[in-house]
Amino acid sequence: MLEFFKTLGHAYAADSAAMDGGAIVERRLSDLRGFFADAEAFETALAREDSLLYRVTAIEPADGDGDLHYGLGILFPGKVGDEYYLTKGHLHSTREAAEVYLGLRGEGCLLLEDEQTGESRLEPLGTGRIVYVPGHTAHRTMNTGTEPLTYIGVYPANAGHDYGAIAERNFRKVLVEENGRPVLKDREAGS
Ligand code: F6R
Ligand code: MN
Repeated sequence: MLEFFKTLGHAYAADSAAMDGGAIVERRLSDLRGFFADAEAFETALAREDSLLYRVTAIEPADGDGDLHYGLGILFPGKVGDEYYLTKGHLHSTREAAEVYLGLRGEGCLLLEDEQTGESRLEPLGTGRIVYVPGHTAHRTMNTGTEPLTYIGVYPANAGHDYGAIAERNFRKVLVEENGRPVLKDREAGS
């Protein structure tokens, strides 16, 4: 049950994804060792700077049946080798839990991978885009533009985040820049 006096509204800035309240999680390059296909390019980039890749501010108003949580994300532009900056990606611990992503600013994509069939889909995410992420679907955000990508993800309070499977075997596909454009490719064995 929500406490009556609890704040239900929050101000946010669509360009910087700053929000007055919520728990902030920041991920730097060093937090993503093993997530990018080109390990050598990763170490070279990290030796240069442990850049901030993304920040998520999560609001969890209540935890009961039917409640919702949401997170405001900002993913900065950049690449490791040819691969665009990305989030770790996860499945929801409650596998049936779906999520709605609302793109606020910038240019990017959501990579979706069905856990049961292994099938991949790439959905544009950015200004004016909404993406529905069904249950049982691993999801990862990638910034393919030159500005920060900001978005909101809304998910059931009981969704939970399972990073284990992705950290172990990664997504089957990688999104790389080729001739100035994003191209989705099969991940090569061992990368
Ligand atoms: C929540 C959700 C997003 C991500 C955010 C960061 O269920 O999907 O708010 O948490 O894009 O990505 P991860 O959590 O994969 O590091
Ligand atoms: Mn999610």
